[in-house]
Amino acid sequence: MENKFQKNILCIGAGYVGGPTMAMIAYKCPQYKVTVVDINHERIKQWNSSELPVYEPGLDEVVRATRGKNLFFDIDIEKGIKESDIIFVGVNTPTKTFGAGAGMAADLQYWEKTARQIREAAESSKIVIEKCTLPVKTALAMERILTSKNSNISFEIISNPEFLAEGTAMNDLEFPDRVLIGSRETESGIKARNEIVEIYKNWVPKERIIESNIWSSELSKLVANAFLAQRISSINAVSALCEKTDANVKEVSRAIGFDSRLGAKFLNASVGFGGSCFKKDILNLVYLCKSYGLDEVADYWEGVVKINEYQKERFVLNMLSSMFNTLAGKKICLFGFAFKADTGDTRETPALYIAKRLIEERAELIITDPKALQNARIDLGGIDGIVYEEDPYKAVVGCDAIAVMTEWSLYNKLDYVVIYKSMTKPSFIFDGRNILDHNQLYKIGFNVFPIGRPPLTHY
Ligand code: NAD
Ligand code: UGA
Repeated sequence: MENKFQKNILCIGAGYVGGPTMAMIAYKCPQYKVTVVDINHERIKQWNSSELPVYEPGLDEVVRATRGKNLFFDIDIEKGIKESDIIFVGVNTPTKTFGAGAGMAADLQYWEKTARQIREAAESSKIVIEKCTLPVKTALAMERILTSKNSNISFEIISNPEFLAEGTAMNDLEFPDRVLIGSRETESGIKARNEIVEIYKNWVPKERIIESNIWSSELSKLVANAFLAQRISSINAVSALCEKTDANVKEVSRAIGFDSRLGAKFLNASVGFGGSCFKKDILNLVYLCKSYGLDEVADYWEGVVKINEYQKERFVLNMLSSMFNTLAGKKICLFGFAFKADTGDTRETPALYIAKRLIEERAELIITDPKALQNARIDLGGIDGIVYEEDPYKAVVGCDAIAVMTEWSLYNKLDYVVIYKSMTKPSFIFDGRNILDHNQLYKIGFNVFPIGRPPLTHY
């Protein structure tokens, strides 16, 4: 059958990035055929079903509009490689858990396996695009692997890191702040870069497509995440000072955010940042700096992660001291388990750390979340006695305290008079996301512990 498509695009890795990103390309470019493959057959099955493996507002609609027309999810990786001219690699790059660099460096085994698969299966020249987040200079290793077969087939490596955030992925993909495309600055490198620019030009304004050399592109991804996380750690560090000084961190954020040089975003103090990438990418940056002998630079960035650990532990210790120095036998309801609102993802969620610490203190846990209960069960699988309840009103009955872990907007809309009546007295609320109306809760009778603001207590 004649191929009616202008380009054949493949993505290896059907995860949080590969699935939504390729769905958007297929949606915006009906003239291209887009195939997404994965070694995880169950995941591919889910992508082909009505229950997608990733929850993202707007994703279902885009997949429904394209799947089977110009978007395909498949398990045949070799065939996918043979049939495509452009290959995105969106596999996972977690923190290494073994050997040199354990706990810090990126584990590149999945990525490297992909490079070898491409080399073995390719029968024609390809553009290979790093979509996953990688240490700077990874493209060099990829080039070496791909060209080690001494064939006539040529490979051009492009760095095109993904900046989407979970929960807003579809909007971020449709209206990106920028798309970054880096290549070697050779004639063939720039030609390949232009081909990728052409894809995005189908819907992204030209001025938002940034081109750079390949190393700047790889490094910019790590640096963007490090800067974002640094803002959160900075405001969280300030929140500790606010609690000691009668200042209110929300007012401080607002005051500094009005400075156009600083901007208002990413200044919400919280129980700590989570998600699969901030910690891993900063530690990856720290490891890179150390490996180049830049110890002071490494220490500087490691501080961002250390403050995040401190903030989570501070939250637990605050609960302990406020509830009369013992949590043993007390019932505590976690409002939310996802690492942020509008996602079911719980990777590196601060709620996991807090839950484990509260269990260590022998508290009884009830967890409620509109989307993440299934993942919470898996994450806490080995621990007996935790109750998982979707309905927050049922979850709080008989509880001594509520701890808000995720900023789901539904927690703002609950009837806290009803909730207060059903709880054990004295009743406590620890608002790890600063989303509730603290004065109102205090009036109802709660002892309220916001982040970065002195508590409102009745004792
Ligand atoms: P993920 O774990 O959800 O998905 C990765 C997928 O790759 C998995 O389904 C896995 O089975 C598959 N895979 C691994 N090795 C494979 C192989 N050899 N062949 C075929 N498939 C293979 O990961 P993710 O969250 O999509 O992240 C992917 C990359 O994108 C990471 O580098 C991450 O840092 C980066 N990133 C993630 C986000 C995010 O919001 N999750 C945002 C921007 C960038
Ligand atoms: C983050 C970046 O925002 C994306 O640009 C990037 O592509 C992605 O990482 C990645 O590389 O994986 P994501 O982790 O999905 O996206 O979500 P964010 O909105 O950045 O939130 C991360 C964490 O910080 C969440 O736990 C969130 O609740 C927390 N946060 C965020 C705060 O505590 N305060 C804030 O002001 C903002």
